[in-house]
Amino acid sequence: MSDTHRPSDTGSMRIAAADPGTQAMHQVGLKPPGSAMIVFERVVKRYEESDHTSVGMEDVSLRIDKGEFVFVVGHSGSGKSTFIRLMLKELDPDSGKIMVGGRSLATLKRSKVPLLRRNIGCVFQDFKLLPNRTVFENIAYAMQVTGASRTDIRRRVPQIIHLVGLSEKVDRYPDELSGGEQQRVSIARAFINKPPLLIADEPTGNLDPETSLGIMDLLLRINREGGTTVVVATHDTGIVDRLRKRVIQLEGGRVIRDQARGGYEDTVAQEMGLGNTGQFPAVGGHVPGTTGVFPAVKPGQLPQMPPAGPGGTFDGPEGR
Ligand SMILES: Nc1ncnc2c1ncn2[C@@H]1O[C@H](COP(=O)(O)OP(=O)(O)OP(=O)(O)O)[C@@H](O)[C@H]1O
Ligand SMILES: [Mg+2]
Repeated sequence: MSDTHRPSDTGSMRIAAADPGTQAMHQVGLKPPGSAMIVFERVVKRYEESDHTSVGMEDVSLRIDKGEFVFVVGHSGSGKSTFIRLMLKELDPDSGKIMVGGRSLATLKRSKVPLLRRNIGCVFQDFKLLPNRTVFENIAYAMQVTGASRTDIRRRVPQIIHLVGLSEKVDRYPDELSGGEQQRVSIARAFINKPPLLIADEPTGNLDPETSLGIMDLLLRINREGGTTVVVATHDTGIVDRLRKRVIQLEGGRVIRDQARGGYEDTVAQEMGLGNTGQFPAVGGHVPGTTGVFPAVKPGQLPQMPPAGPGGTFDGPEGR
């Protein structure tokens, strides 16, 4: 039970009427306000259509702290993508408050939204790579839009390509890569600017189980070694069982479970010999029941994962 985030931890959040944003953080739980990366308070989002209304998010209150790795699970239509789109301010809630990186999204000007998104690495099921650009160019592009110098781009892009195990394929185009490789490019692109927050919506939806494990392992490393907060929406129960991370389960737009070390079947992880450590075998290690999940790089040879943002913090939308 100590592993469970009790609903009352977040359900009691209240924001004062004239709240400019920061007061909300003081009301959330007992942790210092600066440790929250994402706060939802009583968020409601409905999609009005001519003949009916769909529920995207129904009275959701939760908090995700800096440095956490969180799975968001739930059936199709339960609200996972709505949750992600709200964090990116692609959608605005009908009511409730959302804070990301210490900023209230309600008071964030439209003109500042690109800066918000620059602080959030995004990974999607369909990769969203530029088809007419090589691996190198796809990743470099994410740096170019931030105004990075050519020198920085030439130095950093090969490092991150090495990190995701694609050094042999820098000059390939997306259609010359496997699905798993394309997803590694999109993760490299999402992480190249060292965002404090990385969000993935069904990143393994189009991949086989083994390739999926490799992708999740990469996200886990970005979280563990880079200090980046990682939120992954997924249907992939097998992976959620294995990694034993915090699981937020949605149903009909509501949080029906928020568990610190979730999984669907406790026994599955035990059978695989992973116990209940909450740890995934190190990169280059062997995952029971698979033939290995990551390019053959021995742990000692792994390139260093750079830390997230300056000091691992969210460089707020007004930064830079
Ligand atoms: N743009 C939209 N217009 C109307 N209804 C929408 C829209 N986007 C989502 N919905 C509805 O909102 C609910 C939640 O959808 P959402 O896409 O968040 O679910 P999901 O958990 O991501 O599902 P999936 O696993 O299939 O991706 C569903 O009933 C869906 O039909
Ligand atoms: Mg979805």
